[in-house]
Order: sequence, then structure tokens, then C-alpha cells
Amino acid sequence: MKKAVRMILAATALAAGLSATSAMAQITFRNVTDGSALDLSNARDEGKDTPGVKQFLETGKNPYNSKPACLKKGEELMLTACSACHGHYAEGKIGPSLTDDYWTYPEGKTDEGLFSIVFGGARAQMGPQYLALTLDEMLQVMAWVRHIYHGKVEEAEWMSDEQKKAYKPWSKDDKLEVPAGAECT
Ligand code: HEC
Repeated sequence: MKKAVRMILAATALAAGLSATSAMAQITFRNVTDGSALDLSNARDEGKDTPGVKQFLETGKNPYNSKPACLKKGEELMLTACSACHGHYAEGKIGPSLTDDYWTYPEGKTDEGLFSIVFGGARAQMGPQYLALTLDEMLQVMAWVRHIYHGKVEEAEWMSDEQKKAYKPWSKDDKLEVPAGAECT
């Protein structure tokens, strides 16, 4: 009897420990239109626990920003998943420009907020993208969106002070150099 009680206690402690670990440091991302918590378990299985995704879910900062290999992939994803509505260079079409400093949802000025819009959608044709893209792909396309930004630097909340100092507005003539063998990780 006593032994059974001890085992139950041990099992309970273990379960509590496990759930504390998985809940630890995870940000609650929220839908920008109604504030409801986004259910990340809707994400596609593929690409949902890459090191980049894990880091992002803990910090809310996109580790793929400014990484050439990720930007290249992000550019391709933008063309297939976003450009029909947002334009070739996300300059705006039936959906707004994503590269100037005007945001319908100011949340988009942080990576956490930009992810929330992409994952959870907004209004009208801006549906949730979690079936179209894996979490890893969302970070890639978000990195590309940041790369082609050419609005005011003061509004670029996602940038560190150093990045702000080095900021040069993107132009169509910029060439993206991807070092041979570079991978997006
Ligand atoms: C079927 C059309 C469609 C597709 C595909 C689409 N969007 Fe949108 N998007 C829209 C529309 C329309 C809005 C405006 C929604 C609103 O105001 O609530 C929007 C809004 C947004 C916003 C908010 C902009 C702001 O000013 O606050 C972001 C960010 C965004 N989209 C990113 C993306 C990205 C990244 C992709 C590709 C992964 C994508 N969208 C794919 C139609 C689309």
C-alpha cells in the first residue's frame, strides 16, 4: 500500500516536471484581430521543431533575419504563398504592402507579431497560413519580408540598435549573395 502511494507520488511529480518543461519559455502568440491565443498544435508536423523554430518560440525573435540562405528560401516562398495577394516584392496588391512603415496591425513591427499574423491570419482574404507553410517556412518568409523593408528605420521595432545604425533601405537592384554551401539553420 505504502509502496503504491509512493509510486503515484513519484509519477505525479514526474508528470508535473514534464509539463513544466514543455510549457517553459513558450510565448503565447495571439490573433491580431481578436486577441485569442493561437493554437500552435495546428502547425504542420514537418519543420515544427527545427533549432530555428525552437529558438523563435522561446525568444520571439526570428533567428533567420539577415541569413542569406534563409532569405533565398524566403524569397521563393513569398512568390508562391504571398505575392498573388501582396505583390511580387510585397509592395501591395489586394493585401497591403509589407515593406513600408505603415501597418494596419502595428503588431507586425515585431517578429512575434508578424508571426502571429502569418500563422493566425487577419481579416478578409488574409487567412491563417499554418496549412500552407511549415513553422520553419514561416520564419524564412518573415526574414525575407524584413530584408525587403524600405520604410523608416525608427519604425523597425524588430531591429536591434546596431541593425538600425547599419540600415540601408532595400532596393530592387540589391543582389542577394548566398555563400556556396550555406544552409538555412
Ligand atoms: C489570398 C490573399 C492573401 C494571401 C495569399 C496572403 N495575404 Fe497577407 N493579407 C491579405 C489581405 C487582404 C490583408 C489585409 C487583412 C486585414 O487588414 O485584416 C493581408 C494582411 C497581411 C498582413 C498585415 C499587414 C499590416 O499592414 O498590418 C501581413 C503581415 C501579411 N498579410 C502577410 C502575409 C504573408 C507573409 C503571406 C504569405 C505567407 C500572406 N500575407 C499571404 C491577403 C493575403
